Amino acid sequence: MKISEHDIKKNILCIGAGYVGGPTMAVLASKCPHCRITVVDINPVRIDEWNSDKLPIYEPGLADIIRKTRGRNLFFSTDIPRGIQDSDIIFVSVNTPTKTFGVGAGMAADLQYWEKTARQILEHSRSPKIIIEKSTLPVKTAQAMENILHSSNNAISFDVLSNPEFLAEGSAVRDLENPDRVLIGSHETKSGLIAREILVDIYSNWVPREKIITSNIWSSELSKIVSNAFLAQRISSINAISALCEKTDADIAEVAKAVGMDNRIGSKFLNASVGFGGSCFKKDILNLVYLCRHHGLNEVADYWEGVVKINEYQKERFVWNMMTAMFNTLADKKICLYGFAFKADTGDTRESPAIFIARRLLEEKAEVIISDPKALKNARADLAGIDGKVGFVEDPYEAAEGCHAIAIMTEWNLFCNLDYRKIFDRMIKPASIFDGRNILDHRRCFEIGFNVFPVGKPALTRF
Ligand code: NAD
Ligand code: UGA
Repeated sequence: MKISEHDIKKNILCIGAGYVGGPTMAVLASKCPHCRITVVDINPVRIDEWNSDKLPIYEPGLADIIRKTRGRNLFFSTDIPRGIQDSDIIFVSVNTPTKTFGVGAGMAADLQYWEKTARQILEHSRSPKIIIEKSTLPVKTAQAMENILHSSNNAISFDVLSNPEFLAEGSAVRDLENPDRVLIGSHETKSGLIAREILVDIYSNWVPREKIITSNIWSSELSKIVSNAFLAQRISSINAISALCEKTDADIAEVAKAVGMDNRIGSKFLNASVGFGGSCFKKDILNLVYLCRHHGLNEVADYWEGVVKINEYQKERFVWNMMTAMFNTLADKKICLYGFAFKADTGDTRESPAIFIARRLLEEKAEVIISDPKALKNARADLAGIDGKVGFVEDPYEAAEGCHAIAIMTEWNLFCNLDYRKIFDRMIKPASIFDGRNILDHRRCFEIGFNVFPVGKPALTRF
């Protein structure tokens, strides 16, 4: 027995109330007031926070949407069995981190959360359901989900769809409200195609039909990982060239502009930086590498692994540059990190380059002061238990007081608009700025008195 479209629109469940589950369902609730949406999680603290005024994640515009939808057609709960029983459509957006143990450790996706979810769905389902993969998964995972769901004799029908999420943190609400595309993969069977149309219909409430594309389920799973690999590849490409710029007095911003104006290449995602961070790029590329090696495609695997290697190199290079510029010793020097989030407009610090840089500076016996408008709580957790002197100071003026250097880790707008003369006056001389995001007015900082070390541009120094 298939559920009617009318019923389906009423009961949607999302398993996993994280950076994807929370914002995605909030926007769905705001665009589809006729749907009742419940978001569940095994973590009761997270659910309590979603139900409070202090949301567990920071995203511009999100608090407003939650205020309008929560308690109306959006609900957060820890009652997973009940959520499964009451729903017709289930989005699964649990975490899929890199495996840290056993076969594939450090490369493959850890699918334990995913599999537990599949088993829970099977255990508590009493009616037919459409299961939607929202998490990023290795190609062919839908097969495993189906095998589990169809492993019982309970005669309930399940249709599995792939509907990867392409939102970026910091712009999640904007991306969800106005996506470049929505991708829905399904089996090309009769019930697969019906399930796919039901999901197309939901998105059609706000996404233009031509932006909703459909494909076979394996293409959909693979497209998500390949999108992230291509984005990260652009950053590693420009960062690799930034190293050459520093040796040749070319300017990476000028090179990126000239290259990006070729509309076959395009100008986006060509900002040289201290390296990319975030919970997904590295894990998804390593997953791709693992998959290629598994299929004996070693040359392809090596090619993509290079993207991650250049990123590691870029972070290490940043520390070398700091060392060299600061007379080859950082011991007892006080260094202020402006920003700890992996990018602006988020409090998320997962895989943030700032974690690596802070650890390396501490190994060199520097004292590290961290300033970030939204990420200090996560920064404290990331650096807990590490030997060395670390301070956390929200006010950037106070944070830089008595420091020898500032290193810009995150491109927060706030850091562009500070009074750098006031900051310079409070620092130990010679005072240096290492701009890991190329966001400051370097000439102006140099005129104030700083020695300035951008990424991929000639340094401005008095030495
Ligand atoms: P997250 O860690 O923020 O959230 C995942 C949530 O799932 C956690 O709150 C966890 O407690 C919960 N969970 C785990 N197992 C569960 C279970 N059995 N039952 C109920 N809840 C469970 O992760 P995220 O950043 O939201 O990412 C989720 C997925 O989406 C990942 O596969 C990721 O690759 C993908 N993705 C993330 C982003 C992003 O910007 N963060 C963007 C696109 C895709
Ligand atoms: C990325 C993708 O952009 C999303 O499409 C995808 O859905 C998501 O990963 C995911 O699967 O998790 P996100 O990691 O949130 O989104 O943020 P990005 O804007 O892609 O930035 C990633 C990292 O690259 C950040 O550290 C950012 O500062 C850095 N970056 C970005 C650069 O160093 N240079 C650039 O030109 C652009």
